[in-house]
Amino acid sequence: MAVCEKHTGLYKQLDEYIESVKDKKGMLINVLHRAQELFGWLPQEVQDHIAKKLNIPVSTVYGVVTFYNFFSTKPKGKHQIKVCLGTACYVKGADRVMERFLNELGVEESEVTQNGLFSVHGVRCLGACSMAPVVLIGEKDFYGKVTPDMVPEILKKYNKEGE
Ligand code: FES
Repeated sequence: MAVCEKHTGLYKQLDEYIESVKDKKGMLINVLHRAQELFGWLPQEVQDHIAKKLNIPVSTVYGVVTFYNFFSTKPKGKHQIKVCLGTACYVKGADRVMERFLNELGVEESEVTQNGLFSVHGVRCLGACSMAPVVLIGEKDFYGKVTPDMVPEILKKYNKEGE
């Protein structure tokens, strides 16, 4: 398979990182973190590449990737929308909030919008139950007491960033 220029650059950066941590304890996890940082997720080709570079079986790499839910084997949007589906949020209508996000964006759960800007993910308790239902966008944008009607306004903010 032909690798595009952008990806060649990413593989180069990944290889440099691998060289710098090779033979260090726990380096597989660090390498996977770095790869996910670079590629946004961990495609099969990248996992194969890492296994080859580290001279370990692909099944070992895959085992670690699937063990930690931090690692993703599916592409994600630039803005990951995490809708808490924990009990406290669920009883306050998180499922309807989730549904509204999916409808507004025209995607299924975990699918990336065509413009690459968003993906929506149901997650477990985010530790802010008093603000239920809770939505987290990216790493730090928390929204509490979210209603389905607030969803278009929330999305507008991130759509503007993409213009
Ligand atoms: S259940 Fe949603 S934040 Fe705890």
